[in-house]
Amino acid sequence: MSAELKERAARAALEVVESGMRLGIGTGSTAEPFIRALADKVLAGMRVIGVPTSQRSAKLCAELGIPLSTLEETPELDLTVDGADEIDPQLRLIKGGGGSLLREKIVAAASARMVVIADISKKVETLGAFPLPIEVDQFGLGATRRAVEKAASGLGLSGEIVLRQRSDKVFVTDGGHYILDASFGRIPDPEGLSCALHEIPGVVEHGLFIGLARQAFIASSDGVEAIVS
Ligand code: A5P
Repeated sequence: MSAELKERAARAALEVVESGMRLGIGTGSTAEPFIRALADKVLAGMRVIGVPTSQRSAKLCAELGIPLSTLEETPELDLTVDGADEIDPQLRLIKGGGGSLLREKIVAAASARMVVIADISKKVETLGAFPLPIEVDQFGLGATRRAVEKAASGLGLSGEIVLRQRSDKVFVTDGGHYILDASFGRIPDPEGLSCALHEIPGVVEHGLFIGLARQAFIASSDGVEAIVS
């Protein structure tokens, strides 16, 4: 069912894609059906240029024949379509479950508009049930983790902070960084936490996306709800 809902959300987002657009292309299991549906449109004659947010999405786009560019060649994009791990009523997001949050945020910020696609399980009242991914430099990991704990504690947040591992190895992002997954629980002040994390030199970026998403297509068994911020 979940795969079907992701597909529905992805297809709804395709409706806002117009020929000639410069597109940011997201990462994850919801972005993938979007990429496949976009490829069908390209095959049928739609002209777009895509800037992928991960090596994984770049590979899929290339295999399916979607013309690709980079932010060096194409520094301003019309639209980014991407998934999310959590979406609150103000379209603030947690992203980075797939580990691509830094590139996702750079691409979203370079876009005139970001549209989020998700199934209903991602919709929350308050962000934080999903552990917050925090991308950190490999250098000084212990000190950075301690600084993250202190910054969170200053905002009344606490919880386990785990270095992300995959298949018994430390996970390394496309940019060569590590990820700390922080289980703070409810985050009542995402803006405050975002500012506090940005103050820490070892933090490269975090998965709170604030003020970036303009629209979300959320699929449930009742249909696709479009939310605009
Ligand atoms: C990738 O780093 C993430 O930000 C994904 O966009 C997010 O985790 C949503 O992924 P799914 O669509 O696979 O749930």
